[in-house]
Amino acid sequence: MNNKQGLVVYCILSALLLGASLSVSAKGDPESGQQLSMKGDGSGAPCMACHGPNGEGNAAGAFPYIAGMNEQYLYRQMKAYQTGERNNAVMSMNVDNFNEQQLHDIAAYYASLSKPASTSKDTDSELLKQGERLVSIGNWEEYIPPCSTCHGPNNRGVNENFPGIAGQHASYIKQQINAWKNGNRKTDKVQLMEAVAKRLSDAQIEAVSAYLASIPASE
Ligand code: HEC
Ligand code: HEC
Repeated sequence: MNNKQGLVVYCILSALLLGASLSVSAKGDPESGQQLSMKGDGSGAPCMACHGPNGEGNAAGAFPYIAGMNEQYLYRQMKAYQTGERNNAVMSMNVDNFNEQQLHDIAAYYASLSKPASTSKDTDSELLKQGERLVSIGNWEEYIPPCSTCHGPNNRGVNENFPGIAGQHASYIKQQINAWKNGNRKTDKVQLMEAVAKRLSDAQIEAVSAYLASIPASE
């Protein structure tokens, strides 16, 4: 088996393993979650101050869209800010006082909203073309698999393990890839994403972020 085949087999096995190991049932109440999103956790700001009234996020602030994302994924990420597996000075304080039920409720609320329309105005076509190549074909010489291998058809996400990244704000995508590189994000237990992040150069990060932001988050 050569390196390329090895990488493909590794990706497929890892995806199967992850899928099989997790099947927690949803238990959040979206109405209570909506209330909590407007009140905040007591020490932080209401979610909409940064993530917008419809969970659409904001490119300038690197505030991700969280509307329409998988409920369990959202729960797990908020939990990660509480435990320190994710570390971000702007975000962590906004959820640290919520209890388990409240986290499930908020996750259920945001999961129930529609994903936003793509807002990217990027028209640098050379950059977008380079990004598209990396996202859809990868770069086998550098062991970079296509993002869609894990993030699913059109990069719109697969189950609770592989988040949708299509239509996400470029500033946020960039910030996450760098967070894996510099150790501020450790949510990825089997290092699937971390391994990819560590192989991406700054120019490649720029290109994939711009391209992903320019494609639709959903149909
Ligand atoms: C002051 C601005 C601010 C407020 C208020 C805020 N957030 Fe965030 N949020 C951020 C930033 C910035 C990030 C990205 C941080 C990082 O790089 O990890 C983020 C990330 C997230 C993520 C991770 C999304 C993903 O795709 O992994 C979730 C979930 C989230 N916020 C939920 C909430 C909820 C729920 C509230 C309200 C209780 C809230 N946020 C309030 C700024 C904010
Ligand atoms: C081998 C599988 C795999 C491949 C290939 C992969 N990712 Fe990921 N990615 C993941 C997993 C798993 C997560 C979720 C990690 C976690 O649980 O926090 C993730 C999360 C992300 C996130 C965070 C999304 C959010 O809402 O916070 C971004 C951004 C991302 N990936 C970008 C990319 C890009 C760009 C590529 C292609 C260059 C790529 N990924 C290729 C597995 C992969």
